[in-house]
Amino acid sequence: MAQGGRELYHPEDYERLRQGYRDSRLSGKPYEGTHRARTKSGEIRWVYESHRAVERTDNSVIMEGVLIDITAQRVVEDAVRESEARFRSLFENAPAGIIIKDREGRVTAANDTFLNWMDWDRDEVVGKTVRDLLKDNSGSVVEEEDREVLETGKTKVRELTFPSASGRLITTTNMRAPMLTPEGDVTGVCSFLIDITESKALEAQLQQAQKMEAVGRLAGGIAHDFNNLLGAMMGFNAFLMQDLDQKSPQHNYASRIDQAGRRAKQLVAQILTFSRMGPTERKGFDLVPVVDEALNLLRGSLPASTQIITEYGVDRAPIVGNSGQLSQVLMNLGVNANDAFDGGDGQITVSIDRVHGSDPVLDALRSTSSNLQKERVEVTEMVPRGLQLLSGTLADGSDCLRISVADNGSGIAPDVLASMFDPFFTTKEMRKGTGLGLSVVRTIVSSHEGAMRVTTAAGEGTTFEVYLPLAGRSVELRRSDDVSAMPKGHGLVLVIDDENDVADMLSIGLERLGYEVAVGRDGKEGLEIFREAEDDWRGAIVDQVMPEARGIDVIGEIKKQRPDMPCILCTGYSDTLTEQKALDSGADAFFLKPVTAETLGRKLGDLLSD
Ligand SMILES: Nc1ncnc2c1ncn2[C@@H]1O[C@H](COP(=O)(O)OP(=O)(O)OP(=O)(O)O)[C@@H](O)[C@H]1O
Ligand SMILES: [Mg+2]
Repeated sequence: MAQGGRELYHPEDYERLRQGYRDSRLSGKPYEGTHRARTKSGEIRWVYESHRAVERTDNSVIMEGVLIDITAQRVVEDAVRESEARFRSLFENAPAGIIIKDREGRVTAANDTFLNWMDWDRDEVVGKTVRDLLKDNSGSVVEEEDREVLETGKTKVRELTFPSASGRLITTTNMRAPMLTPEGDVTGVCSFLIDITESKALEAQLQQAQKMEAVGRLAGGIAHDFNNLLGAMMGFNAFLMQDLDQKSPQHNYASRIDQAGRRAKQLVAQILTFSRMGPTERKGFDLVPVVDEALNLLRGSLPASTQIITEYGVDRAPIVGNSGQLSQVLMNLGVNANDAFDGGDGQITVSIDRVHGSDPVLDALRSTSSNLQKERVEVTEMVPRGLQLLSGTLADGSDCLRISVADNGSGIAPDVLASMFDPFFTTKEMRKGTGLGLSVVRTIVSSHEGAMRVTTAAGEGTTFEVYLPLAGRSVELRRSDDVSAMPKGHGLVLVIDDENDVADMLSIGLERLGYEVAVGRDGKEGLEIFREAEDDWRGAIVDQVMPEARGIDVIGEIKKQRPDMPCILCTGYSDTLTEQKALDSGADAFFLKPVTAETLGRKLGDLLSD
């Protein structure tokens, strides 16, 4: 058969075979090999063949040997090879890192996934212990835990952090299992590692966010109490300023207290807004005088080297929102712009414009790749130079107002730009900046359904643009109060407040305006005093949050006897009572604390038509 024709062999094996036969014949050595042969019926079988050339006495040469059908064995071998390849690919590319060590802790195998994480070469690793490989002490921790698995023969799951060759810290869940022989002997340890670095980082971020929220709430609570105290301090100080000779050093001291107090009030307002405990009342109002007033305050507090220019493209800017908060936005942007001059000369240009609903700028602020996302902060490069940041998302296609604050200062570096809206992010020294300014701006703008665009170029300056939905025509705009001469008054007024300093400040203040004042230290005492001379009172000023009775209920009682008597309700920031609710419940006017005696006196005068 071996010497038969070409048709007896598989065509792929034929040449190799012929060569083999020839070599064997020439060398005189036996031939040995495997090949595919064709049977009579045309079937292909794997055969093992061994033969040698034997010379007969008549000088002819014949082949003598054996031919064994090994087809069945080949099929098994192929299956084993294929299954091995499958398992190897599974091993190498598994989404888990796999590392196998012998009883002495030497690495016998590690998969590609693991080697890639660690930036290791297979050759560097095999035969070494993890203690050799890991530079920090995590190596000895691993060895100790491996030993436990070797001794107990039980699996073990642990969280483990270790450094890669390039120094990146990887946190994993490490599942270890003993490597067992069919007899049950432990020959080593196999570890499966799942990379949990990213989810760990997210978890830490979440914890941080929760901590920040708690801190914010705590700070908000303190700020609220502080605000009341500040009201009393500034109120008494205002009396000093009125009484002291304007040219005296004492008047100068008092006015310094007043300036510092105003700054403290701003700081408290920042914290209250940040912790979302600030006033949230919304009204229709004209933004132009609000911006003017904020700029006046800024001019008073910024150095003379900073020039503020206004370019208004509108006469009126109707907005629905909170005027105090929007003036806070301007103050924060203005102070930041001034800081960007670093003490040198600089120019801040503030403009207000109306932007048509179809303007491409508004399109960019509406269309976001990640749907409607209020919290987005997106930084892109601009042509020909500089960076643009978009923050927040406008909801619909209506016209907007744009308030823009532009400076010709330092500009903002890309990494700062990306983080500057984060609470407590600051590049300023200790005590110079808290890093709350822009996060407050962002909170306020997003609560007004607005969005922002910031453009900046290194050395050329920065422009912050705030886009706010324009109020519809039907919105009624309130006028801000006229603050001219001190209001004068007369007659008996009842002040009910449980906070002594506040009550004293208000009563002294109202007396200075000409009223006679009686003070009730809580709701019950207040009503008792009221009943002693029911018909003689000209008005009442009542605090909302008091022990015993709420201000609004005290006013209800008073109104039962004296529906004509003007009653003013005062409340702190943390209270949820809105002006509308207060008025609906019978109060004639409503103020957020801290409020000055002067403001109350003016309102009382209005209500009494004095
Ligand atoms: N107009 C600007 N020009 C250059 N950098 C700015 C400008 N506005 C903000 N930044 C940068 O953004 C950072 C964050 O500003 P943010 O107002 O939130 O905090 P702050 O000014 O550092 O502190 P705070 O406002 O609480 O006093 C600033 O530290 C500054 O680096
Ligand atoms: Mg700031």
